[in-house]
Amino acid sequence: MCRRAGRQDAAPPLPGTGGSAVTDRTCTLRRPCVHLVGAGPGDPELLTVKAVRLLERADVVVYDRLVSPDVLDLVPAGTPLIYAGKAAADHHMPQEEINKLLVKLAGAGRRVVRLKGGDPYVFGRGSEETEYLAQHGVAFEVVPGITAAGGCAAAAGIPLTHRGLAKGVRFVTGHCRADVELDLNWESLADPETTLVFYMGLANLPQIRDRLIAAGLDPATPAAAIMSGTTPRQRVVVTTLTELPERVAEAGLRAPVLIVIGAVVQMAGLLGVDLDERPAAQTEARERADAG
Ligand SMILES: C[S@@+](CC[C@H](N)C(=O)[O-])C[C@H]1O[C@@H](n2cnc3c(N)ncnc32)[C@H](O)[C@@H]1O
Repeated sequence: MCRRAGRQDAAPPLPGTGGSAVTDRTCTLRRPCVHLVGAGPGDPELLTVKAVRLLERADVVVYDRLVSPDVLDLVPAGTPLIYAGKAAADHHMPQEEINKLLVKLAGAGRRVVRLKGGDPYVFGRGSEETEYLAQHGVAFEVVPGITAAGGCAAAAGIPLTHRGLAKGVRFVTGHCRADVELDLNWESLADPETTLVFYMGLANLPQIRDRLIAAGLDPATPAAAIMSGTTPRQRVVVTTLTELPERVAEAGLRAPVLIVIGAVVQMAGLLGVDLDERPAAQTEARERADAG
């Protein structure tokens, strides 16, 4: 899925490349390029083959807070790693600075892997970065990753759609500034035949619950919270919409947490790990240790 940078007529020359000499902006490993790579939800086994190949050949890797240590372990020793992570209240590197850094690294002729948690184009600000790269004439490609919804739901035994239970699924942001109400179309979200997946919804969980119920969603709708899905720290709380904020608080779940609301969550009892259990990878490791 290689892309050519758009808006080349407006773009300033790429520093260090002779500017107009670079006419073909196809992203290859032989010319300055930023590979925006999805790192998936945490389990390194969920990386794409392409992601692993690019990590092995990168000159420099710029990574986010949600990229798991196990994924970073795949970067060869000696490859520079630059942390550009952001925590909700503690902005390590402003977005504008990250954008400029990517242009600078590519301009210096480095093969840059910009590694982002999940999928770069799902609530990851990946498109802000590629928009900036395009405006500055830097070639880029986007390598999709498994987004938290797919990875965490599978790890918790929750199908996002299921015949007779859900006709569709919606990925929704649960994030807004602390002093601001979530500005969502609650009436359209309160559909009993649609699975709702809230990213970044932990801090606003009471508001999400109250607004959905006020908009008509049954308080008894099954709901789940998955913390650090697909990693050894995974924990899953399954309950009802009305009880979700209290159960999550009691369990002491901490970010990253993904919220899944909808009838499909009832399948977790049949298809999922035991509640609050460890993911398969860790269970297998424990079984091997017990056997040995
Ligand atoms: C800024 S968004 C990035 C989403 C990412 N681009 C993706 O496609 O998964 C961060 C949110 O994704 C969710 N998330 C990402 N990884 C997760 C994981 N392993 N377990 C639970 N939630 C996760 C959480 O809701 C977290 O607050």
